[in-house]
Amino acid sequence: MIHSAEIFDSIVNTRRAVRKFHPVDYDPQAVTRSLQRAVLAPNSSNMQLWEFYRVSTPEKLKQVSYCCMSQNTTETAKEIIVVVARPDLWRKRAQQNHANVLKSKDVRQNFTGLTREKYYSKLMPLLYNNDALGLRSLGKKIFVWFTGLKRPIVREVGGNDVRVVIHKSVALAAQTFMLSMTSEGHDTCPVEGFDSKRLKKLLNLPRRAEINMVITCGKRIPEGVYGERFRVPLEEVVFEAD
Ligand SMILES: Cc1cc2nc3c(=O)[nH]c(=O)nc-3n(C[C@H](O)[C@H](O)[C@H](O)COP(=O)(O)O)c2cc1C
Repeated sequence: MIHSAEIFDSIVNTRRAVRKFHPVDYDPQAVTRSLQRAVLAPNSSNMQLWEFYRVSTPEKLKQVSYCCMSQNTTETAKEIIVVVARPDLWRKRAQQNHANVLKSKDVRQNFTGLTREKYYSKLMPLLYNNDALGLRSLGKKIFVWFTGLKRPIVREVGGNDVRVVIHKSVALAAQTFMLSMTSEGHDTCPVEGFDSKRLKKLLNLPRRAEINMVITCGKRIPEGVYGERFRVPLEEVVFEAD
């Protein structure tokens, strides 16, 4: 194994969901560096529809933990990151990408057959602009169904499909963050057991923002890891597809 793979192997094996953190040992700079790495995660169409809210004051930590049903991991965390998906920022991100493409004068076509300029000025609005009644979604699905009779086409074009697209990318950033924290000698726990309504209100998030996950941060104490790791055998989940 090459050296970098050995290091990565050690990071992946060391990372555990940690439920109890050390009361003082902690370096917030590890979070700062890990967030810088998190935003380098691959993400759909480079739309970067994510945000990260750092919570570190004792009072706010208590309030966030309450929204997470006072779980052990949130009660003992030195810092909490609330990872948020922002579907409502699609227009701004498409414009930012569009400006970047124009700056780079890149005229290559991508898999859609569109130039990168048209990808951001035409296709992204088509995909992301969905109405509450679902009429645009329906129109797109009908178009895709007929076009799909003749050639391969992306089928997931409805409003809820787009939410999945966004959350996939946000979760990749969250995972990059957690692995980076491990590489920094720190620990984390992803948390989806929270009251999204209360937490959104606490953080003053806009109505259309969606909390992807909460990540607790700190350094583990031995009893903070609940037992040996369990995974189903690889043969149950890895298949030869040919
Ligand atoms: C999306 C997601 C949500 C999770 N939510 C919680 C949670 O609310 N509370 C908790 O203690 N652990 C939570 N976990 C941690 C998992 O239970 C843990 O990752 C899993 O048991 C595997 O253990 P490992 O991470 O130590 O390998 C969550 C993990 C993920 C990926």
